[in-house]
Amino acid sequence: MPVSDNVKKRMMEGSWIRRMFEEGASLKNRYGDKSVFDLSIGNPVMEPPPEFIQELKKLMKKPIPGMHRYMENAGYADTRAAVAVQLSHETGIKFCGNDIVMTVGAAGGLNVVLKTILNPGDEVIVFAPYFMEFGNYIDNHGGVIKVLPTNEQFVPKLDALETAITIKTKAVIINSPNNPTGAVYSRDLVMELGELLRRKEARYRKQIYLISDEAYRKIIYDGLPYPPVFHHHRDAIVAYSYSKDLGLAGERIGYIAIHPDCSQHDELVDGFVFSNRILGFVNAPALMQHLVKNLQHVTVSVADYQKKRDFLYDNLKDMGYSVVKPQGAFYMFPKSPIDDDVAFINELRQWNVLVVPGRGFGAPGYFRVSYCVDEKTLKGSLDGFKKVAEKFQLIKKP
Ligand SMILES: Cc1ncc(COP(=O)(O)O)c(C=O)c1O
Repeated sequence: MPVSDNVKKRMMEGSWIRRMFEEGASLKNRYGDKSVFDLSIGNPVMEPPPEFIQELKKLMKKPIPGMHRYMENAGYADTRAAVAVQLSHETGIKFCGNDIVMTVGAAGGLNVVLKTILNPGDEVIVFAPYFMEFGNYIDNHGGVIKVLPTNEQFVPKLDALETAITIKTKAVIINSPNNPTGAVYSRDLVMELGELLRRKEARYRKQIYLISDEAYRKIIYDGLPYPPVFHHHRDAIVAYSYSKDLGLAGERIGYIAIHPDCSQHDELVDGFVFSNRILGFVNAPALMQHLVKNLQHVTVSVADYQKKRDFLYDNLKDMGYSVVKPQGAFYMFPKSPIDDDVAFINELRQWNVLVVPGRGFGAPGYFRVSYCVDEKTLKGSLDGFKKVAEKFQLIKKP
């Protein structure tokens, strides 16, 4: 057999998003693009902002000598410095270039972090619902995933964390704004989480890293504040991505940032740089590093995403779906009207509406709607949602 048992098992278990995406492609072949409403994948339709194109044009007009060559594995010093300036501005903590490693997206960054810190059998805690790739990334580097619950608002249950941390715990991964729920964690939550981790670090006399996946950090609605994890835990590592905030998912660019006062800081950064190399990334894409350097303060239109959120949320609520209003990212995670979320998404599929069952995020009984799509797709999906709501008698009679 060419494929290892582990890869085969993981391919079977963790491919709901891909499966729905492929299903969408096949439905589009059969019925045409316009008749299929694919809300399954988080691949933003928004183009990168004009500032990105300007930077690209500037670079084309005046190429930097050697700009396509190998570089230091950590990335260009000036790009790392620019990220450090932006982070200092956002957090009020003084970062420098040596706290930053440029990576192949947040996915690459998370793999670099886990490769660097995990010994075989080390436990990494996540909170369901969660981005299922976390399980694959942890497994890639010999770790063991431990999944804990969230409350009805999809906020991590810290009492569960209190009892779940053991001597084997190496890290806790959080993701706010969250994929798949859109939840944004409050300052109080992050503060309590930091206190808890510090207590456990003291008890077990070891570092417990707080890994914050901030792929959606800039996509937050209603002017909600974003509490930096760096204010609440020193052993904190951020994995950031430009995929969503600049609409560059295919270009594969992001970074790791580490708290300037993290214990054994330099050893850890050296580990990240080494792991970046030996995982085969070698360095983050050169061209993108040149471009994002000057785009630290730029973001796609969050107002447009907020409009889409409001439109979908209002409509689904009116139809009787039970849904927590997302505060960020571009996903919604309503309750499935029937226990079997796969049976429910199959009902929607009858109307050419594609979403992902909650079990694809470790939370059966829900479904994820990705609304980073164009208006036609979003509007066109409503009929299917309505038909299924009627079938399950969600719509309240006047
Ligand atoms: C929560 C989360 N983390 C990480 C990623 C990966 O981001 P990147 O494209 O930067 O690798 C995604 C992509 O959808 C995501 O949803």
